[in-house]
Amino acid sequence: MRFDRRGVAMLATLISVLACSPADEPPPTGHHLPADHRAGAPGIGDPDFPTDGNGGYDVSHYDLAIDYTPTTKRLEGVTTIHAGATQELTSFNLDLAGLTVREVSVDGAPATFTRKGDELTVRPPQAIDGNTPFTVKVTYSGLPKPATNNANLGTYGFIPTSDGAFVASEPNGSKTWFPNNDHPSDKATFDFAITVPAGVTALANGELAGQPTTAGGKTTYRWRERHPMATYLATATLGKFELRRGNTAAGIANLAAADPKFKASLNGLYTASAEITDYWSTVFGPYPFSSTGGVVDDYSAGYALENQTKPLYGGFDPGETIIAHELAHQWFGNSLTIRRWKDLWLNEGFATYAEWLWSEHKGKKTAESFFTDFHQRPADDPMWKYPPGRAKPDDLFNQSVYTRGGMTLHALRKAIGDATFFTLLKTWAAEHRYGHVTTEQFVDLAERLSGKDLNGLFDAWLFQPRRPA
Ligand code: ARG
Ligand code: ZN
Repeated sequence: MRFDRRGVAMLATLISVLACSPADEPPPTGHHLPADHRAGAPGIGDPDFPTDGNGGYDVSHYDLAIDYTPTTKRLEGVTTIHAGATQELTSFNLDLAGLTVREVSVDGAPATFTRKGDELTVRPPQAIDGNTPFTVKVTYSGLPKPATNNANLGTYGFIPTSDGAFVASEPNGSKTWFPNNDHPSDKATFDFAITVPAGVTALANGELAGQPTTAGGKTTYRWRERHPMATYLATATLGKFELRRGNTAAGIANLAAADPKFKASLNGLYTASAEITDYWSTVFGPYPFSSTGGVVDDYSAGYALENQTKPLYGGFDPGETIIAHELAHQWFGNSLTIRRWKDLWLNEGFATYAEWLWSEHKGKKTAESFFTDFHQRPADDPMWKYPPGRAKPDDLFNQSVYTRGGMTLHALRKAIGDATFFTLLKTWAAEHRYGHVTTEQFVDLAERLSGKDLNGLFDAWLFQPRRPA
């Protein structure tokens, strides 16, 4: 599901059709055929991640069937993608890293395919018309390997563990375990059917669709996420888990899970997730999804990830601060999703500011005090050189995106006053619920609600390589 892009895509198609009329096409050179303008682009158009996602279609739903055996680390998968073509397509790409593709079909008919890098190019037997729905089914298998391509991003994607897998895919690791359109600007709903050896638990997004079924020593878990979700938030975290289920005081379903090694964290995670979800619902507006909670797995990722409905904590006992952060992302990041990675402060600055709001709410250190302490950092602190409003592709999760991003919101709060600021947070979450957002839209809304010119403030805090006054 992509929002507000169709018009642009159609216009682009029209322009490319007009610009490429047969008359001015260069003659084929023999060894190099002219590019077919009816081939879907290998990237969705994020200039910082040119090969992430793909052009020419828009996914509405993923149906994932996965069979995983922890002892052999082998995954057998069938992914069925329901999409709509946004142009005529003689071929189109999916993102997939490693793994072996056995078969691809489009609308039930066998399709040919080629692999190059992390691109899987599918050529259906006949071209897909523009503006029509189609289904692509990919049968694949192999030993999934997580992404380790960039030291700043760490290890992410499908990470095998001794009893299962730790699955955290931000920014572009979902292609390590299923073929997809791997960019947040294309969100979709998900169905999962995950088969594991009996005794292993599979935890994916959303809700269980029926009780798990066991046959022949294997159990199949069916999960369903019925709200649009970015691919990086999809998870199928597998292993031995202790579970606690119930509802928050306000009545939201709550599921906490902990690897036996982190058994002692289970009740704290459950209780804090419930209390914080209910509190954020009063500050940010209604909780956007069908359940809350979290998962602690025994893998030291060095980070947590806000997987939709099921934040994942990597090998540590999560305290309230990080739980407040990951649950704030359910609004900022998951319900409201960035259209391009450079706007990541809209996720991380908001979630960091939420940590300070939680502390303030608990009568501990105030947001003002966090702000002042960070503002006192010397002018040569690296945070001041890195403008958080333009997250860098090779250093997306830089501290500036988090802390200076959070400071931006506090500077804004001081400029427009508490009443307008908290109305802004709620209005922002409501106006773009389940949609996509950009920094420009946030600045516009802040100006609209406050009646102030805030360009100077946002420019200094988000875009200048120096400490704001
Ligand atoms: N969004 C996560 C958080 O702030 C961080 C994800 C880090 N991902 C990574 N590949 N290092 O909680
Ligand atoms: Zn975060």
